[in-house]
Amino acid sequence: MKHPGCWKMLTVAMCMALLGCLQAQELRGHVSVILLGATGDLARKYLWQGLFQLYLDEAGKDYSFSFHGAALTSTKQGQAFIAKVLESLSCPEDVAPDRCAELKGQFQRLSAYRHLATSKDYMALSKDIEAQIQHGGLREAGRIFYFSVPPFAYADIARNINSSCRPGPGAWLRVVLEKPFGHDHLSAQQLATELGGFFREEEMYRVDHYLGKQAVAQILPFRDQNRKALDGLWSRHHVERVEIIMKETVDAEGRTSFYEEYGVIRDVLQNHLTEVLTLVAMELPHNISSSESVLQHKLRAFRALRGLQKGSAVLGQYQAYSEQVRREQQKPDSFRSLTPTFAGVLVHMDNLRWEGVPFILMSGKALDERVGYVRILFRNQAYCVQNDERWVADQSQCLPRQIVFYIGHGELGSPAVLVSRNLFRPSLPSESWKELGARPGLRLFGRPLSDFYAYRPVREQDAYSVLISRIFHGRKDSFVTTENLLASWGFWTPLLDSLAHEVPRLYPGGAENGHLLDFEFGGAQLCFSQRQPERLVPGPGPAPMPSGFQVLKAKYRESPLISAWPEELIAKLADDIEATAVRAVRRFGTFHLALSGGSSPVPLFQQLATRHYGFPWAHTHLWLVDERCVPLWDPESNFQHLQTHLLQHVRVPYYNIHPMPVHLHQRLCAEEDQGAQTYASEISALVANSSFDLVLLGMGADGHTASLFPQSPSGLDGEQLVVLTESPSRPFQRMSLSLPLINRARKVAVLVMGRVKREITMLVSRVGHEPKKWPISGVLPSSGQLVWYMDYEAFLG
Ligand code: BG6
Repeated sequence: MKHPGCWKMLTVAMCMALLGCLQAQELRGHVSVILLGATGDLARKYLWQGLFQLYLDEAGKDYSFSFHGAALTSTKQGQAFIAKVLESLSCPEDVAPDRCAELKGQFQRLSAYRHLATSKDYMALSKDIEAQIQHGGLREAGRIFYFSVPPFAYADIARNINSSCRPGPGAWLRVVLEKPFGHDHLSAQQLATELGGFFREEEMYRVDHYLGKQAVAQILPFRDQNRKALDGLWSRHHVERVEIIMKETVDAEGRTSFYEEYGVIRDVLQNHLTEVLTLVAMELPHNISSSESVLQHKLRAFRALRGLQKGSAVLGQYQAYSEQVRREQQKPDSFRSLTPTFAGVLVHMDNLRWEGVPFILMSGKALDERVGYVRILFRNQAYCVQNDERWVADQSQCLPRQIVFYIGHGELGSPAVLVSRNLFRPSLPSESWKELGARPGLRLFGRPLSDFYAYRPVREQDAYSVLISRIFHGRKDSFVTTENLLASWGFWTPLLDSLAHEVPRLYPGGAENGHLLDFEFGGAQLCFSQRQPERLVPGPGPAPMPSGFQVLKAKYRESPLISAWPEELIAKLADDIEATAVRAVRRFGTFHLALSGGSSPVPLFQQLATRHYGFPWAHTHLWLVDERCVPLWDPESNFQHLQTHLLQHVRVPYYNIHPMPVHLHQRLCAEEDQGAQTYASEISALVANSSFDLVLLGMGADGHTASLFPQSPSGLDGEQLVVLTESPSRPFQRMSLSLPLINRARKVAVLVMGRVKREITMLVSRVGHEPKKWPISGVLPSSGQLVWYMDYEAFLG
């Protein structure tokens, strides 16, 4: 410490101020707030005002306070800075000016700057707090350390607090952390582990300032207070879609060094919008004032999120962005950034409440307006007989029905909760929410404001003030726990990885964006409504002709071969499978289909799930061609693939689904458990002559098919219908249908996709019947039909 004498004086002064501020009543204790980064931007804009608000709310109640602004800035500069900030603090409307001025004076006297850099400084800080408490004859209640510093500084500060600034026994420690909390799942995990070495979970308060926005903070209380009305409405049976939106007009200029690392998904969707999503989607705990149960329910909502795929997102980048990065980061002229500044993402939940309901998350910079909201749009199944001019907002069931948590800005200019009048009259706490006055001419979400019951906060509060109060009251449910943080990164990281090299669509910015960024969805996919903007502007020359995609028919190993580009090939195969299924059901009443694992059939499963509504699923039995010896819920399991991409989207009766019994007696593929024999018996019992109607196979680059690998000691011939085999790659143990069983099928389709298959395709075209070397060459149905489906890359290279 540079000026010990000076600090002693300050401590005494603060104690005097403190005593002066104390009322006659018994205090429950003293709270010290240490704001780290007290001279930074966030502190200047929001945190000091938030701390002042805390003091206004709590002064004269149960606790006494002192506020320590800390930073690396020199004492002189820091003091001058703090004095200026304290002077500029504003008084809220609901506090009488005289009272506010008095409290502001007290707050100024209770606040001081200190230079905090070395471990000695931290020790001195702790000593000063102790001295202050002793002088005042107080009891310490707790210490709040607010980290308003960049994450690289976290570890050092955390170490110092842990080693020398913890309060004594009986008092609590709360450390408040600001995002970014990592860059992906791994880095978030590392950061969490590091912090976990210094602080206990209950001591950490990770801020997501959206949780402090009044409309967001009202979601759970609103759901709770309107349980009766919402019970019947809050589910897939009634909700058509949920939109969670944060649009901004500002761009990233001035902060591209941060933004280039993060982009819009990490900056906004992974945290703010996901937090809001979980508040809408989670099951409502019986007691919403229990932080623990809110957090547990939230975590369960995270677990129900269906994994995202590349096609779940659309990305954009405003046109000036790359140039801003080049300028701010001295990049060469040739530099083009791939960082998205706009994203729309389609999210689904796999649970009974929300299955099938699209949750649309969208955010972007340089858009036409600044606004944030969550909009729950309900399905409308009414038909109204009267002419629409006679429809009345609170009676007509034909008008749109929606609930909106309006986070702020936009046309309304303030936070609000809106409920369509034809839904129900909501109940909101009258001490904090009041009805919005009429605003003739104002339309929101396609309807005049008068169509809604509309409420706004009695006192508008900044998100940070709300959160600082919640930290003080120990409301952990307004913060991000380690588990929730990692669950969120676990959800977003695979999408971020898959989009890492995606080129975002460029947009001009502001109103000029027109419809360029509009997007639409079908199934799990999202795409821009204007597919190829450059083609939409007619240029010189003839209009582009639709490319005549063709399906090529030929012979391969003397059997029919169908070849096309991947999309057409999959569509053709799906059509053929459906036709075979329909014929089989017509003739025999059932259709027995055996499916392979691996990645090639995934688009086929998706095609069947989303395009084949005439498929006779109710009469289809699904069998596995092969399986990896892992539990069925393991991501490596073939059955798990089938479940994710097909079964959960179609209605196959449970008793028609036949996973391979690889997991018996809590062990995997043990010979003694006779799983292979059990599967063979099940096939013999249910499939006439053990002859499947259709077996779908693939071909490995080494010529394997099913899980029958070159030189396999079993399954290539003999009597056995189902065998245990060894794979050269992980997981090594497999279960597989044997070649003799496959060859009993009425039809065998072999699907081969991608350039990596080119060599084996050529090789196998030339070899004879040599299943020991190339098991695929042993596929030759004894009385059935074999058809090869190869995309152009596999077939033509
Ligand atoms: C921050 C993001 O978390 O939220 C910014 O880093 C974004 O990029 C900001 O502008 C938006 O917050 P608000 O409160 O202005 O909606």
